[in-house]
Amino acid sequence: MSERFDVVDVIRAKRDRLGLTGEQIDWVVDAYTRGAVADEQMSSLAMAIYLNGMNREEIARWTQAMIASGERLDFSSIIGPGQKIATADKHSTGGVGDKITLPLAPLVAAYGVAVPQLSGRGLGHTGGTLDKLESIPGWQASMSNERMISLLGSVGAVICAAGAGLAPADKKLYALRDVTGTVEAIPLIASSIMSKKIAEGTDSLVLDVKVGSGAFMKDEATARELAQTMVDLGHEAGVKTTALLTDMSTPLGLTVGNAIEVEESVDVLAGGGPDDVVELTVALAREMLSASGVDEDPADALVDGRAMDVYRDMIRSQGGDPDAALPVARESHVVTAPESGTLRRLDALAVGVASWRLGAGRSRKEDPVQAGAGVRLHAKPGDTVRQGQPLMTLLTDTPERFDRALESLADSYEIATDNSAGAERALILGRLSAE
Ligand code: URA
Repeated sequence: MSERFDVVDVIRAKRDRLGLTGEQIDWVVDAYTRGAVADEQMSSLAMAIYLNGMNREEIARWTQAMIASGERLDFSSIIGPGQKIATADKHSTGGVGDKITLPLAPLVAAYGVAVPQLSGRGLGHTGGTLDKLESIPGWQASMSNERMISLLGSVGAVICAAGAGLAPADKKLYALRDVTGTVEAIPLIASSIMSKKIAEGTDSLVLDVKVGSGAFMKDEATARELAQTMVDLGHEAGVKTTALLTDMSTPLGLTVGNAIEVEESVDVLAGGGPDDVVELTVALAREMLSASGVDEDPADALVDGRAMDVYRDMIRSQGGDPDAALPVARESHVVTAPESGTLRRLDALAVGVASWRLGAGRSRKEDPVQAGAGVRLHAKPGDTVRQGQPLMTLLTDTPERFDRALESLADSYEIATDNSAGAERALILGRLSAE
């Protein structure tokens, strides 16, 4: 088949800092998805985009082309008592100890808003929601689109794997970016995330854009630019989109792993749990409820058990047993405070890498994860610690992993002995809506 464009012309244009035309973008995304553009050609184009960027029109067109590569879901048939139910979704750019989806989805559903939460598995130091939930005996991540729509109507919240039909261009391109050093480009991240969310067909979306050592975006200005780009893409596509910029310089909560993060999420659903996890869950729920026209305080349903009831239904409806004991790691190793003082810093990236090396994460897509592995934190920045007190407990089934995990933790924390603990960093750093 003769092609409309020569891919080398498209690569040269971006290499020479020229804008790509809408036709060029439609063609190159489609041709790559069908295999008419080779991986080495697309990786060259991705690197040119990484280096030279894209303007807003190019990003919007690239996003639309990725959406057009696959199917679009339609939630318009989800009917509640007498009316169509609003759908709301959350996307996090990924962090360490980020288990927020687990309490958030049932919490928002407790107010009558349906939450279709298409989630992923972890790769590298950031965990994946599906890996966490798979530590619950019997729980299944996969389901058909029909089953998902039916559960959204009956249970209200579904957390499942995205089917192969949604934005296949992104699946192929994301795998390529992962091995060609082209992940951290705002146009490519924004179009990748938003193509999947727009194709999913949610009415509203809140983005949790992480900033700090444990996040993709290490500085606030870049995170803000990514957040605004995504909010505008969503808005232009008719999805009510807002974003919170949140701190990821230290892990969220007191657990980093799989089963131990489920355990902490259940604590939050029972009205307890660490303050930062509760604060972020409630703030994101507030955004989702407000975009869905619900004017209620989401903190209430954590306290009175309504969110827990939806969580238990949600787990059962996907084959899981919410009462089953969670897997526990066979071996543990405690790291103690070398001196007394105030914990000034506990680095998210170092703890994420340690948890990954203990077996909670994977290096290759096909690797299995250990359900019980991870890191339990006993102190957070701002806490007073005494010499010899446990700072963290490392958990794994395979004790030969302790050494590498400890290496990653070597410079991960600082204890101030002179009462100069420094100002505590806020968890929520900003909010963005459409410009
Ligand atoms: N998550 C995605 O889905 N895509 C990216 O490019 C980065 C994070």
